[in-house]
Amino acid sequence: MSADFEKYFQTVPPVLPAHIAIIMDGNGRWAQKRAMPRTAGHKAGIGSVRAVTEACARLGVQSLTLFAFSTENWQRPQKEVSVLMELFLRSLQKEVARLERNGIRLRIIGDRTQFSERLQVLMAEAEAKTAANDRLSLNIAASYGGRWDIVEAARRLAEEVAAGKLSPEAIDAERFHAHTALAELPEPDLFIRTGGEKRISNFLLWQLAYTELYFSDALWPDFREQDLALALEDYARRQRRFGRTSEQVEQVTRA
Ligand code: FPP
Repeated sequence: MSADFEKYFQTVPPVLPAHIAIIMDGNGRWAQKRAMPRTAGHKAGIGSVRAVTEACARLGVQSLTLFAFSTENWQRPQKEVSVLMELFLRSLQKEVARLERNGIRLRIIGDRTQFSERLQVLMAEAEAKTAANDRLSLNIAASYGGRWDIVEAARRLAEEVAAGKLSPEAIDAERFHAHTALAELPEPDLFIRTGGEKRISNFLLWQLAYTELYFSDALWPDFREQDLALALEDYARRQRRFGRTSEQVEQVTRA
């Protein structure tokens, strides 16, 4: 870890987000700037996944959700999709022991039926092996889309209604949330998108309702502890109001 990162967390009492969600954007541009194929950027991005995950575990962040592959990413060139699948496969084979050592629980969220049988098995095994870990919950969104998540929740609720197990009047935000992909975790406090674009790109549409948004110009393979520290510093200065007025919030914090 860099000296800056260490110093920041020794001197500032951190107002830490419990849950951070990240769109890891800019891999392709990182590679193109170096006259390398786009896929080299995805490979380099693994280093940032490792660095940010371990920094979060060390700081005491409880959950980290990373957008690795969207429902729309299947439309990318076949070569790029197969390199990404190969990277997921190798990461699952190689990194699980490291996750276990670091007390990290892995969950994969998204439409897994789209992946090869082999990847589906590895995903299930990695989740089972790390299921008892509780230092950090690492959620990898793969073949995931915010709209897919909402549609899935709606479908499951409709099935319960059709089976006579649920009345339509009993459906409220809480019950809906319980059917979404991250139902067991607190909603993200901080959303980070790297790579300079300012979009949510069909990430956690339901879960980001009151999340603080932060955009970094760093390309994902360059995003390391110092960049995370900048995002956390910015987050610590925000006032979260959840639809209330500043005065109401200040009254609650003073009480
Ligand atoms: C977006 O950058 C990034 C992706 C679509 C893939 C992200 C995957 C990784 C970081 C590696 C695998 C991760 C895990 C968890 C094993 P982009 O290609 O859209 O970049 P661009 O905007 O510069 O084109």
